[in-house]
Amino acid sequence: MPLDTAATWSAPGRVNLIGEHTDYNDGLVLPIALPQRTHARVSLRDDGILEVSSTAAPGVVRVPVAQIGPEAPGGWASYVAGVVWALRGAGHDVPGLTVHITSDVPVGAGLSSSAALECSVAAALSDLLGLGLLADDAGRAELGRLCQLAENEVAQAPTGGMDQAIAMRGRAGHALFLDCRDGSARQVPFDPEAHGLRLLVVDTRAKHALVDGQYAARRTACIEAAQTLGVPSLRSADPADVEARLTGTARQRARHVVTEIQRVRECVEALGHGDFARVGATFVASHESLRDDFEVSCIELDTVVDAALGAGAWGARMTGGGFGGSAIALLPAASADAVVAAVAEAFDLRGFDPPTAFFVAPGPGAGADLAERG
Ligand code: GLA
Repeated sequence: MPLDTAATWSAPGRVNLIGEHTDYNDGLVLPIALPQRTHARVSLRDDGILEVSSTAAPGVVRVPVAQIGPEAPGGWASYVAGVVWALRGAGHDVPGLTVHITSDVPVGAGLSSSAALECSVAAALSDLLGLGLLADDAGRAELGRLCQLAENEVAQAPTGGMDQAIAMRGRAGHALFLDCRDGSARQVPFDPEAHGLRLLVVDTRAKHALVDGQYAARRTACIEAAQTLGVPSLRSADPADVEARLTGTARQRARHVVTEIQRVRECVEALGHGDFARVGATFVASHESLRDDFEVSCIELDTVVDAALGAGAWGARMTGGGFGGSAIALLPAASADAVVAAVAEAFDLRGFDPPTAFFVAPGPGAGADLAERG
């Protein structure tokens, strides 16, 4: 029983420029919002039912809003239902909802299709319930936090908050320099094209599953390392202490986190000076640290990075959680074709399925689509 006519809201996928596996360590991150977006056509209903459908999945999922939880409804619709659950938990009455999803954010590519889904629904609810949370950055940060709760508690993926933060708080032409310790953020202009450069995203199409044990194992290793060092999180760890007081795998994991936080600062500083060569160098160092110390890269991601650098990219790295998914490369516009061809050839030589490559510039965060009524 729809209460009003439907309208459409959308939210972007993301790539993280640098600051990987730092968000759940109270660290620093520097993501951009992608032009690719997930659209949610939403109307309220008065019968207490959430009804969800998508052009990407057969059938319609129905669940009473009062029954939403870790086991219900399960599957992809949990990302939508989790947002309803989180808003209800925050004291907002959600009477019932009909949601239809369309998206051009690739799924399973490490580009945060799940956060885009959550945030498109959160944006819709903010407007439909008159919460006004899209109006300023503080409200958007709050919606991002609720979407992270949805992902952790209902979809049961133990992610940090970076993806939801950028999907809500992203701005066209800018990267979000986010401090995950207190949620404070600064918009950093990011316009490589003005410097004759381009940002390439390569989806390796290799398997990527955050819900599997690897991501959670990295989180646990970081928490344990912080405990050993007697600090609340690795954000507060002294790099010299990491080397002196940790050993083996614990030292490697912690070393990645503390050096990566430092690289985010360096990258932001370099961007401030328009020094893209140095930005590229931080990308390369980040990838090496993720590959060798944090051990979340894979042969496909390493192949993209090596091929891109070999063909003239100024920097390249895996982006997102790792274990598959996507890599980014910063390259001179004049080398664009050569880099894309080199990556494709390297994949072909190794017998991998062809990757998907596309150029991106930062787009805006979540919001209402053009006033379209139906
Ligand atoms: C995934 C998670 C994020 C973050 C990255 C790694 O994308 O969803 O919270 O931890 O991995 O930086």
